[in-house]
Amino acid sequence: MRRWIMLLTGSLIVILAACTKYEIPKPPCPEDLPTNVSYSGDVQPIFDASCVMCHSGGQSPDLRPDWSYDELIDGGYVDTDFPCSSKLYETLIGSHADRVTEDEVLTILGWIDEGAEDN
Ligand code: HEC
Repeated sequence: MRRWIMLLTGSLIVILAACTKYEIPKPPCPEDLPTNVSYSGDVQPIFDASCVMCHSGGQSPDLRPDWSYDELIDGGYVDTDFPCSSKLYETLIGSHADRVTEDEVLTILGWIDEGAEDN
């Protein structure tokens, strides 16, 4: 009887250990991001064209030109240490995937990767 219990416990541990290997993988973080991205010249124009119709006060973050930078930084939408963990990036590849092109997403990610400066 004891042996059975040990065997059962043993196999349970093996099964549980195996399960943790099969977590749903996050999409890999893109490499070779664009460099020298300008917030005012490259990022804000994307917001102007594709975002402000919804994000202009009522829906946060407020992405209108005079507000967007502070909203994104102060609101914790960007993570310059782990750009792909940024809420902004996660939203763009998640619920907002059909609202931006791949190039636009990479531009925004490149800007975060370079330190999310107000440049
Ligand atoms: C058609 C309206 C619409 C457009 C266009 C739109 N959004 Fe959104 N956005 C929403 C709504 C509604 C939510 C809340 C639900 C969700 O997360 O999808 C949201 C959520 C977000 C969030 C997460 C907010 C939070 O606090 O969790 C971010 C970041 C964001 N949007 C950024 C953008 C950017 C950048 C663009 C332009 C590329 C954009 N949105 C375009 C409607 C829109």
